[in-house]
Amino acid sequence: MHRVVPLKVHYYGTPVVLVSSTNPDGTTNLAPMSSAWWLGQTAMLGLARSSRTTHNLVRTGEAVLNLAPSTLVDHVDRLALLTGSPELSGHKRATGYRHEPRKFEAAGLTPQPSELVTPDRVLECPIQLECRVVDHHEVDSGSALAIQVSVIRAHVSDAVRLYGTTYVDPQAWDPLIMKFCDFFGAGEPLLPSRLAAGWEMPGRLEAAG
Ligand SMILES: Cc1cc2nc3c(=O)[nH]c(=O)nc-3n(C[C@H](O)[C@H](O)[C@H](O)COP(=O)(O)O)c2cc1C
Repeated sequence: MHRVVPLKVHYYGTPVVLVSSTNPDGTTNLAPMSSAWWLGQTAMLGLARSSRTTHNLVRTGEAVLNLAPSTLVDHVDRLALLTGSPELSGHKRATGYRHEPRKFEAAGLTPQPSELVTPDRVLECPIQLECRVVDHHEVDSGSALAIQVSVIRAHVSDAVRLYGTTYVDPQAWDPLIMKFCDFFGAGEPLLPSRLAAGWEMPGRLEAAG
């Protein structure tokens, strides 16, 4: 039987993207996000208006989308309650966020220079997409922006490429999936995310230990 349910959250399971963007001081900011989808060489990103990444993308018109494999779950989770923005919104303060200007160090990830855009790539991510911002508009009553980017160069590790082709091997590529604020890989639960704790999400994974 189906029931009418006023769902509060619609995060049904999407790959985690670590978005690199350039801060006003020229350093690279890094932020996890998962409201992303692709069509052809276009990607659409749903980003909160207040995040540092949103400001950086609109100001500079550049980004790198680093696709996180499930093996990076701990690194991604270390970024979950951090912002590159020195000013925190009331909501972020209440959910336990703090300002962190050095996201690569905080996550234990390695910056790798990009070729066509300014922000660094994440060395540990087997798929890295250098992008230019094409357009953006307000969504969700103005609380967020839908940012359209164009992939201008894709870097793919041999480890996830179908040998001798220009295709990603779907059996070798195991994306980290964000599903209702918890992390999954290969359909299996991996780790309860800190984000879920902040949001007080029900039906969560048990924390290890
Ligand atoms: C796995 C994961 C997925 C997230 N997905 C999104 C998202 O799709 N859109 C968004 O605006 N924030 C998302 N967030 C929250 C941002 O990472 C958070 O707002 C962060 O502070 C942004 O960093 P920045 O302010 O340095 O850009 C996600 C966080 C995690 C841990």
